[in-house]
Amino acid sequence: MASWHDYPATAQLNPNVIRLKEPCLVLLIGLSGAGKSTFAARHFRPTEIVSSDTCRALVRDDEADQRATADAFEVVHLLAKLRLKARRTTIIDATNLKRADRAHIVKLAHDTGVGAAAIVLDVPRTLCHARNQRRPGRDFGPEVLELQEARLQSDLRSLTEEGLAPIVVLDSVAAIDAVVFERR
Ligand code: UTP
Ligand code: MG
Repeated sequence: MASWHDYPATAQLNPNVIRLKEPCLVLLIGLSGAGKSTFAARHFRPTEIVSSDTCRALVRDDEADQRATADAFEVVHLLAKLRLKARRTTIIDATNLKRADRAHIVKLAHDTGVGAAAIVLDVPRTLCHARNQRRPGRDFGPEVLELQEARLQSDLRSLTEEGLAPIVVLDSVAAIDAVVFERR
């Protein structure tokens, strides 16, 4: 979990309402176990969500098969590109913790004249770890989450420079649960 001074100056911290001007691309950002897929399913239609895990399963029948990652992201990028071309709001459900990964997807949006928003689910690493322990296919060691957290902490502040707007940071389970969307 980052501390408040890691957040970009322009970030909306724990808003009750997230306003989306549609169509838009939404990047969910957070550690494994932060609750991205749960959040996406609560707020968006299944067809609006492009999930890297679902794409792994589509190419290898197993959403946890890391050997499928490169192929899965080809599918993620293709789906995002086609949906944005059709001006459909698209939620990218992946950790989105690497700057280069985000840049690729943000470019797809901007190339089609669509805005790209970021929603960061910044909950404690210990909570993510505890949740992952109870999940199949997430039995990786603590160093994986430590690396993911380090990436988040180092990149959060400069998210604004990546062409993402708005940038929303939700820094607790309560803040995540309280959010409603206003889509215009
Ligand atoms: P998610 O499966 O939503 O996390 O929740 P994630 O961020 O998408 O994780 P990755 O990146 O795909 O690995 C993780 C676990 O935590 C539970 C979910 O049911 C799931 O088992 N969870 C999530 C809660 O118990 N409470 C919540 O508020 C959110
Ligand atoms: Mg997920």
